[in-house]
Amino acid sequence: MNCFSCFQSRKSKKWASSREYGSSLSARWNKKGDEDKKGEANDNIAAQAFTFRQIATATKNFKQECLLGEGGFGRVFKGTLASNGQVVAVKQLDRSGLQGNKEFLVEVLMLSLLHHPNLVDLVGYCADGDQRLLVYNFIEGGSLQDHLLDVSPNKKPLDWFVRMKIAFGAAKGLEYLHDKANPPVIFGDLKPTNILLDEDFIPKLSDFGLVKLGSSGGTVNVVSRLMGTYGYSSPEYVRGGELTLKTDVYSFGVILLELITGRRAIDPTKPIHEQNLVAWAQPIFRDPKRFPDMADPVLHKQFPEKDLNQAVAIAAMCLQEESAARPLMSDVVTALSFLSAGNEDPLNPPLEEISHHQQKDEADV
Ligand SMILES: Nc1ncnc2c1ncn2[C@@H]1O[C@H](COP(=O)(O)OP(=O)(O)OP(=O)(O)O)[C@@H](O)[C@H]1O
Ligand SMILES: [Mg+2]
Repeated sequence: MNCFSCFQSRKSKKWASSREYGSSLSARWNKKGDEDKKGEANDNIAAQAFTFRQIATATKNFKQECLLGEGGFGRVFKGTLASNGQVVAVKQLDRSGLQGNKEFLVEVLMLSLLHHPNLVDLVGYCADGDQRLLVYNFIEGGSLQDHLLDVSPNKKPLDWFVRMKIAFGAAKGLEYLHDKANPPVIFGDLKPTNILLDEDFIPKLSDFGLVKLGSSGGTVNVVSRLMGTYGYSSPEYVRGGELTLKTDVYSFGVILLELITGRRAIDPTKPIHEQNLVAWAQPIFRDPKRFPDMADPVLHKQFPEKDLNQAVAIAAMCLQEESAARPLMSDVVTALSFLSAGNEDPLNPPLEEISHHQQKDEADV
């Protein structure tokens, strides 16, 4: 039995409940005579098809008290599935600019195939009438935004090793989307609110694939969505909506820089030349002697300086203006795995150990 048996058991439970519903995506595909083979191949798809009534019951009729927040794609509600008591987050996609039913189902089908310890699980979907809802596993701990940037005064700041563990996990999730998913998935909207943390600070990427799902195919919606994520988007994405794997690498670089410095990507409260984090950091990247000055003051220098220097160097590589010069996420994962050296706190296991567990789990997926 491997160390991540909990993921296995959760998966098999989900398959069982999918069969119970008898209306999973694979069942729908099976209905199409000419798709028999595909249907068989997709027999282990976990996404469940929910009726609107089931979702309404789960969220107490989309009651205000269940509202978790609202992002660029629509509102998110906390809910509990009546069938098995599972706590979920329901994302109600805005109806404007949405894809047709078939395109929506195809995209959801693709997303439901993606499973990784650093991704939020897509439990199911609802495509009743013109409703488009996505049902995700609820992640208890809040987002990286809550823990790093909007920290309440009574909360302890994240220490260096937890920050690196979060960076490493997020990088692993992205690497999976880029290298293991087929076809590759470009996140397109990576930012701290889309990195959810479980009770052990294991990061789970949420909303991957939504940039494609939420647009009707052209670039207009993609470009208009950019407005909300200014500060995390790569220069080529801002200029022309050009979305590639390297767009995600850039966004990851911004987040790594936020983890190192505790500063926000965009902070209008700072002096003018410090408001844009990347613009502030660029001259420092060229002067390694100044790297230690970048560290978040709340860390009180409690980090190995060598690791800090290395983390800044990785961020600088990810943030290169020329997209082709940025590293692949697999290179970033390798580089970040070395930053665990020197962590002897048993509550914060070395990153190699986490990596080892994750690799084992991925092998089981
Ligand atoms: N699976 C989940 N588990 C727990 N909370 C979630 C989950 N998904 C989203 N949330 C929470 O719901 C709120 C709204 O999320 P939403 O994704 O709509 O906003 P966002 O991330 O700020 O913007 P975007 O739409 O660009 O992703 C956030 O507070 C987020 O932390
Ligand atoms: Mg989000």
